Formats: sequence, C-alpha cells, structure tokens
Amino acid sequence: MSTLTIATHAFTDQKPGTSGLRKKVSVFQQPHYLENFVQAIFDSIDAPKGATLVLGGDGRYYNRTAIQIILKMAAANGFGKVLVGQGGILSTPAASCVIRKYKTFGGIILSASHNPGGVDGDFGIKFNSSNGGPATETVTDAIFAASKTITQYQLLDAPDVALDIQGVSQLGEMTVEVIDSVSDYAELMESLFDFSAIRELLAGGFRIKFDAMHAVTGPYATEILQRRLGASADSLMNAVPLEDFGGGHPDPNLTYAPDLVKIMFADDAPDFGAASDGDGDRNMILGKRFFVTPSDSLALLAANATLIPAYKAGLAGVARSMPTSAAVDRVAHALNIPCYETPTGWKFFGNLMDAGKVTLCGEESFGTGSNHIREKDGLWAVLFWLNLIAARRQPVAEIVREHWAKYGRNVYSRYDYEALPTADAQAVMHHVQGNFGSLVGATFGSYTVQHCDDFSYTDPVDGSVSTGQGIRVLFSDGSRIIVRLSGTGTEGATLRVYLEAYDANVANHHLDAQQALAELIQVALQITQLKQLTGREQPTVIT
Ligand code: G6P
Ligand code: ZN
Repeated sequence: MSTLTIATHAFTDQKPGTSGLRKKVSVFQQPHYLENFVQAIFDSIDAPKGATLVLGGDGRYYNRTAIQIILKMAAANGFGKVLVGQGGILSTPAASCVIRKYKTFGGIILSASHNPGGVDGDFGIKFNSSNGGPATETVTDAIFAASKTITQYQLLDAPDVALDIQGVSQLGEMTVEVIDSVSDYAELMESLFDFSAIRELLAGGFRIKFDAMHAVTGPYATEILQRRLGASADSLMNAVPLEDFGGGHPDPNLTYAPDLVKIMFADDAPDFGAASDGDGDRNMILGKRFFVTPSDSLALLAANATLIPAYKAGLAGVARSMPTSAAVDRVAHALNIPCYETPTGWKFFGNLMDAGKVTLCGEESFGTGSNHIREKDGLWAVLFWLNLIAARRQPVAEIVREHWAKYGRNVYSRYDYEALPTADAQAVMHHVQGNFGSLVGATFGSYTVQHCDDFSYTDPVDGSVSTGQGIRVLFSDGSRIIVRLSGTGTEGATLRVYLEAYDANVANHHLDAQQALAELIQVALQITQLKQLTGREQPTVIT
C-alpha cells in the first residue's frame, strides 16, 4: 500500500460554525472537499506519530463514504490506531465517552446534528480533543486557516475497511479497531444512575415513550432502556436509524417531533416522553400533557442532583449559555454554588468542566449534560429524569410546578426566523445595536429596560475573549429579550429571538407560555422592528 500525495486547491468556505463544518451533502461530495478539511484538521492538531483517534458518526447519508476516506487519510498521516464505531456509528456523546475512556488523542465526529439528512440533506464533520469535547476556537481557527492555504493532502492507496464486524485490522501501518458502538456508553450510564430504581419504576407500570427519530439513539435506547432497564417494546419509537432519518427533521422539539407530541398530549398519554436528535446529544422532555422547557429542565436537574448517585455529593457549579433562561441561576443561588453564563455552543463549557468549576451545564437549544463527558448528552438527560422520578415518585408536571412555586417561573420561548437573506437578519441586529443608548431606561408596557449589550465572554480559565455573541435587552424585573444569529444554519441566515419573562406569582404558573409572554413578544417586535425589516409576519418555528 502506498501513500498518495494528491494536489488540491483550497476552498474558501470551510469555516467551522458553532459545532464543526456543516454543509449540504452535495458540497461535501465535490472532489477534494472533505479531504481538504480532514487534512486541514490533521495539519492543525499536532498529533504525535502513532496517536490514536476515535471515528464515528450519526449514520446519515455519506457517513460510510466519509469514514473510508478519513481512515485512509489517517493512515497516510501517521496515526497509529483508529477506534471506529461498528457500521460507522457513534453518537456524539458516545464518541466523547470513548475518547475519554481510552485516553485517545481525539476524535472525528461525522454529523450535522439535528439538520435533516439524506442525499439532499446536510452533512458535517468536527474534531474533538483529548478531553472528549469539541475543539476550542483556537483550534477551529487554525483549521480554517489551514483550509485556506492547502495545496495537497495524503491518502493511503488501500481497499475499504470492513466496518460491520467488530475486530482489528491493518490499514498500512495503522490499526483499525471496529468497536461496539453502544457498550462503553451504556456502561458509563450504568455507573452514574440508579438503574435498579429506574427498573423498578418501569416494572411498576410507569409508562414511557422515547422517540429516536430514526436517528443514532435507536441502538443506544434499545440497549439501555429496553435491555438493561426492562422498558416494554412499545416504549421506543423510530428506533431504527435511517440514512435520511425517514425524511424527518431529527430535532427534538415541539415542531419537529409531532408524532411524539401527539402521543404525549393524548388522553391516554404515557407518564413520560422524550426524544433525541440526529447525533444523540439533544433531548426533549415531556410529561403527561406537559412540556418541560430545556431551560427549566436544567434548573430541575440542578435542584434535584443529589437524588442521583453520581451527583450525591452536590455540584461544584453550573453553567448555561447566555440565551438559556436564568432559571438555573436561581437554583445555583439557593445552593450557594457558582453559575457561569457562556456564549452559545457546548465548547465553552469544556474549560469550566476541565477546571472542575462546574458539574452540570445546559442550553436552551435542547442540550443538557454534565462532566461525565464533554458533550451534551440526550439519553443521559432522559436517564437523569427517570432516576429523579423514581426517587420522588411524582408526575413530571407536579415536579415542575413545585419547582416554580419555590423559585418562581422563568417563562420562556424562542422564535426562529429561518432562511432570511443575510442582509435582512443583519439589519435587525444593527437596528437594535444602534438604539442601545435610547433603550436603557425606556418603558414598554410593564417592562422597563435596565441594560443592553452585545454579549461578550472572557473565559475564566484561559482568559480568551469571545465578542459579538448576541444582543441582550435586560429588564428591571429579570425578564429578557435576546436576539442572535444562528451559527448552525446552512441556508441564508436564521435569526433567533429568545423571550423570557420572570413570574414569581404561583397564580400565573398554569398559563401557557405563549399567553404568559404575549406582552413581551409585542415589546420584542417593537424593539427589533423585525416585521418591518424582514417582511416576516410569523416565525418559522416556535419552541
Ligand atoms: C449546536 C451546538 C450547541 C448550540 C447550538 C446552537 O447544537 O452543539 O451547543 O447551542 O448549536 O445553535 P445555533 O443555531 O443557535 O447557533
Ligand atoms: Zn446534536
């Protein structure tokens, strides 16, 4: 087998976004496109000769093709070993778990997360470092820089590797080990949670429904929920991963998981419902006819953490992304532990966890996790909820309402305006930024603006500064309006408006979020001039 050095030309659009490089499959299928980016990764990460890499993806279309290319490039670039998930499958949290467990140099994860898949869908690739977490911005900036000047890449001229049978083979001088995609992760979950309490809960007639959305968590949920915890066969839906996710949009929210939502809001609804996304790191939690917002979920996990074996001793601290509601801040305050506010993107939690400053983290974008790995973790959140329900023996809605009664409710909703012309989306941002001066002190109905800024973050561990992370309009009663451009879209620009109204009055806690936020929504439209500047009457998605 010989190493081929292949001449190439640079592409100008390989800038990693919030979570790696995401593009349409057709973009990745251009000659040299994937290869250039992979070589840019290898040229930037300074891996010692013989290093071990983890490789796997969410099984979407192009996963297998990409894995073969990356294996041959890894062999040609001097890696000593690659641990690849069977069939090319590793959920994002499982990849993080494997990187940490086997102390590898890092890993490459193939996924476009919750974006649709298939020939006409999206594909994505990202590098995770030895801590199991997404590469820091310093690394992703270096990768982007390398991608702009690349002239050649290395590839081993070799036949494809068999991915479907576990075992060890050689690719030139590099060892390829095809590993069970699920077992390391399942073992980790079993070490964190009280499986026997959850098993007892399920055996006692507590009914659950987990929607894998035809994505990567199917095999993980089958092994953990069914085989290890005894959930009935009808507890899982869409549990067979498909390359196009069955034509769906594998994003666990009220809009894109309508089948599960319908089941959970029916008269005979199960007691607990949950879903995860394309690559298994997101989660949505539902009770019987009850939706738990991700921000509330994080606050509830923090407040109940000591009921879980892994967190019995308490939490070092918590962190949330800036647009995530401040519900968890109130819990942190009561527990007297620090609460960090970071920019959007899981990578910002990594340093805090590595430094032992936080145990739990979460984002409004349906992500929650802890320091057990360095990615957010969908099934982990599901198991956390099941464990806390097994300990408290109360319905989900009752647990949440008790929480609100104690801490007040941070009523929350996000309005997304997708596929806008970039100029229109920017016009909205500029309009608000231009008015910061006149907004402070202004009153809109029952809301008075206390502070406005463009969020910037100084990492308390390495001192790095991230600016321009979203506009914050903060009101005197703790309510907030946040406006931010999405970093994960692949078409035009997506503008997100995050609405949060704090209400301590229990008499209002039964209200639907849209009802409770009606006034704040009007205030947001007025401050942003969104309808006038974009011509959009309604958001594309409300979560
Ligand atoms: C990915 C990241 C999350 C982040 C989300 C934000 O899912 O893994 O950490 O919260 O993107 O997406 P956005 O489209 O709002 O930039
Ligand atoms: Zn994801």
